[in-house]
Amino acid sequence: MSKTQFAEDVKEGLNSTPKRLSSKYFYDAKGDKLFQQIMQLEEYYLTRAELNIFQTQSQHLLDLFDSGGAFRIVELGAGDGMKTKVLLKYFQQKGADFSYCPVDISANVLEDLKRNILAELPHLKMEPLAGDYFKVLSELKFQNHKRNIAFFLGSNIGNFRKDLAIAFLSSIQQNLAKGDFLLIGFDLKKDPKRILSAYNDSQGVTRAFNMNLLQRINDELGGDFDLEAFDHNPIYDPMTGECRSYLIAKTPQKVHIKELNASYEFRAWEPIYMEVSKKYDLDEIADLAESTGFRVRENLFDQEQLFADSIWEVV
Ligand SMILES: C[S@@+](CC[C@H](N)C(=O)[O-])C[C@H]1O[C@@H](n2cnc3c(N)ncnc32)[C@H](O)[C@@H]1O
Repeated sequence: MSKTQFAEDVKEGLNSTPKRLSSKYFYDAKGDKLFQQIMQLEEYYLTRAELNIFQTQSQHLLDLFDSGGAFRIVELGAGDGMKTKVLLKYFQQKGADFSYCPVDISANVLEDLKRNILAELPHLKMEPLAGDYFKVLSELKFQNHKRNIAFFLGSNIGNFRKDLAIAFLSSIQQNLAKGDFLLIGFDLKKDPKRILSAYNDSQGVTRAFNMNLLQRINDELGGDFDLEAFDHNPIYDPMTGECRSYLIAKTPQKVHIKELNASYEFRAWEPIYMEVSKKYDLDEIADLAESTGFRVRENLFDQEQLFADSIWEVV
């Protein structure tokens, strides 16, 4: 991710009404570490739930994936690959013929993933690709592989606006062929209190994760955000299933960003919109599949039914 692109996106976001910042910039070296801490939090049930699906249903997934012989897993936004490693290990033990292509915008996290996975699975055929998954789909040469299984885990799709989610999933569909699958994670609608606490943990790690983007603007673009002058404020709306995170200016203030040659005024209690994490029900999952050229083959659930990994096939 170039510094110029970061600068342009920050400029556009802070000039918008309401002000916003893109959550894809959460992930610098510090943001990667903070997200790994979030995944360990008691309140953040999502990772454990999806891991539970992989731990309990790996044979079922293998039967589905290798029914036609060799296959390739392309994981979009792989992060630390910790959950996927469970499957990769199982598939290798079973002698399956497959390769793994993790894609991530963060070169840091991809280096960690590579080291970590190869330490346990030295013979794994792995081709990591650092890049923005909106831009690198065409570089992934789907047509050179007999069967591709795209992975989009962690309910990352919940971070997309609906129009972007449809555009992104449609472009994955266009790169896949009949017989390929998309395995996509969805956080399910549930007790609103449980959802909210996942984004407002008692140790303040999610807060630090959001604040780190202001720090990144200070460090990389010469900003003078006073982090103490902002508050982290997530809210959950059960009508839309959207959990939205804001950083709110506690007092009227002006922030200057040298690289942008610009200053931004904040009113007291003015929010910066940081991220949405939408929660789904099964009808919404089926509608999304249908509107992007897929069909839901099946939904796999964790033991507590908090999360679904939905397996989609190209129609
Ligand atoms: C919330 S983490 C989830 C990681 C992993 N999928 C999981 O379920 O644990 C999102 C990951 O996607 C990556 N990411 C975010 N936006 C991206 C983009 N536009 N292109 C590629 N990777 C992206 C981030 O660097 C981060 O590692």
